[in-house]
Amino acid sequence: MKTIFSGIQPSGTLTLGNYLGAMKQFVTLQDDHQCYFCIVDEHAITVPQDRLKLRNNIRSLAALYLAAGIDPHKSTLFIQSEVSAHTQLGWILQSQSYIGELERMTQFKEKSDGKAAVSAALFTYPSLMAADILLYQTDIVPVGEDQTQHLELTRDVAQRFNNRYNDIFTIPEIKIPKVGARIMSLQEPTKKMSKSDENEKGFISMLDEPKKIEKKIKSAVTDSEGIVAFDKEKKPGISNLLTIYSSCTGESIKALEKKYTGVGYGQFKQDVANAVIQLLEPIQQRYHQLIDSDELDLILDQGAEKASFTANKMLQKAKKAMGLGRVRKK
Ligand code: AMP
Ligand code: TRP
Repeated sequence: MKTIFSGIQPSGTLTLGNYLGAMKQFVTLQDDHQCYFCIVDEHAITVPQDRLKLRNNIRSLAALYLAAGIDPHKSTLFIQSEVSAHTQLGWILQSQSYIGELERMTQFKEKSDGKAAVSAALFTYPSLMAADILLYQTDIVPVGEDQTQHLELTRDVAQRFNNRYNDIFTIPEIKIPKVGARIMSLQEPTKKMSKSDENEKGFISMLDEPKKIEKKIKSAVTDSEGIVAFDKEKKPGISNLLTIYSSCTGESIKALEKKYTGVGYGQFKQDVANAVIQLLEPIQQRYHQLIDSDELDLILDQGAEKASFTANKMLQKAKKAMGLGRVRKK
């Protein structure tokens, strides 16, 4: 059975983009793969975080994973900072990452652009991400399109390590969804939908109430043409809504274009809103049952224990391969 690893940062309530681009594929993959899903809180602290908000976001993300359908009997769900092998291998892999390649990362360039103080951790973020993945002999990493560059770096670092020391790391493949890999902002449809967007109308949170979802979709930026058709360049707003609709319902974009021939944007937007609400409502219900439950803590305790066991073995292998520590004389 192939191994899957993926992570999401607890840096705010997840958006519909996170769900359609990442989490939705996790749920289907867990049936025939060995899966590790991680709340990457150590990645979140690469930019300033309020401690209480971070605490809440970590728990909330754990509950959302489960509410969305991650089954703890099939998958290992855990918090990154509760498995210390991640930062330990992260440090080791910093020694195998080059400044030049880290400087080329667009996520770093975007997040550091115009900032007076940028943490060193934001710069070495991809080395920690490589550690996350490589600790579990991961074959496949399901993520949204924006993570392609980080995955390529992970592969390069793993290859470099294997060539230099010992062939211990599995080289992972990236898996991007066919539709929904890049959900755009509702207000600026040429920009990715992001939970850190200052304009709340730009994103749909997975925990937004139905009324709010409807309002946000109805005020989504479109164009004046009045034709429901997919054209990313000329009609980014409508194309984004079509993508959202299609990945919520499974209907193809082609079929939707046909269905909405001659139908106005008002009706179309109403139907998109209904599709999103129908998808999110059951997830929200389960979320509210889980968020304050002991069950959630138990699942995370067991997850951390299971992940530590596997991760520590790999960490020891990496240390040994590089000559770290010592070998007992007797
Ligand atoms: P992050 O919120 O940056 O930790 O991202 C978690 C996962 O969601 C990653 O796999 C991202 O690629 C994916 N993701 C984030 N934003 C979007 C988006 N707007 N569309 C599709 N996937 C996304
Ligand atoms: N960098 C990813 C993001 O921002 C989150 C992440 C951290 C991740 N470690 C990972 C994703 C390992 C996949 C595998 O979306």
